[in-house]
Amino acid sequence: MVSRKALFDECMSILEQSGIDTARFDTMCIFQDMLNDQNPLFLPNEAVPETAEKRIRELTELRSKNRPLQYLLGQWEFYGYPMKVGEGVLIPRPDTETLVDQVLDICRENGMTAPRIADLCSGSGCIAIALKKQLPQAEVTAVEISEQALSYLRDNVRLNGADIDVIAGDVLKKDIRQQLSGLDIIVSNPPYLTAEEMRSLQTEVTYEPASALFGGEDGLGFYRAITELWRRSLKMGGYLVFEFGDGQHEAVSSILKRYSFDNIQLRKDGGGIIRTAAAVKTGDDFIRYSDNSEQSRNNTEE
Ligand SMILES: C[S@@+](CC[C@H](N)C(=O)[O-])C[C@H]1O[C@@H](n2cnc3c(N)ncnc32)[C@H](O)[C@@H]1O
Repeated sequence: MVSRKALFDECMSILEQSGIDTARFDTMCIFQDMLNDQNPLFLPNEAVPETAEKRIRELTELRSKNRPLQYLLGQWEFYGYPMKVGEGVLIPRPDTETLVDQVLDICRENGMTAPRIADLCSGSGCIAIALKKQLPQAEVTAVEISEQALSYLRDNVRLNGADIDVIAGDVLKKDIRQQLSGLDIIVSNPPYLTAEEMRSLQTEVTYEPASALFGGEDGLGFYRAITELWRRSLKMGGYLVFEFGDGQHEAVSSILKRYSFDNIQLRKDGGGIIRTAAAVKTGDDFIRYSDNSEQSRNNTEE
């Protein structure tokens, strides 16, 4: 039998030698989970049961090969809520909490206690679920295309007891868009990596689904398509709130302006990177051909 402390030191050292920067944190998470103890080193000489030892060693081995810790544990916290995760669904990032904060601030500032909200490209459902938990009277719908992600999304809805609607479908398709209208807020963290970024992913990120990451050659495909297509589902004065990658704020802002969204508010994440933009739907459903242009045409789709 091995003691908790001896096994901990051994596992941490394996991760350190494999170049995992967060070796101590990761070892601690594995121990907490496997021993079901928030403070596993409080009793350092306690013997680790054989089955737990075997599993801890297996997880350490997988982690040393850069498997994402979140997938190994099968659950991760987002905005204080537990989310089931695994291969096939994007791991919720702390940066995305900025998006939730911004939507909640919009609701607070505008006195929206029961807004109609759509979360496009919902993945694990982390954004939709956090919003529903924070705004219990809101009517929240999550739209997601991937069957694998949808299965996690539905599990997470149940796990968190969040009463939200789930639509399985392509946000780029008109028939899906037409299922939702009169929305107060559309929120989305769509795939936004460029072709170049996809070629130089960190090893850990390669375990996550490419369909959750790749946003077209310049990374902006979903922003253009969602802004153009989904504008019609928003009420006048409604908000479109996007998360995007480092350095994409100007391009996303000009897409929003092009489709007559105004009052663009950018927000930084905890790392100081401009991460989100919220914009208000103004004007008719027309396209501005350039930011200064008076020229417009009816953007009729039906
Ligand atoms: C960047 S991930 C974001 C997931 C989640 N919203 C989050 O913040 O963690 C993008 C998600 O969009 C989904 N997706 C990609 N293309 C889509 C499409 N055409 N329609 C709906 N969802 C799509 C992917 O499957 C993935 O779950």
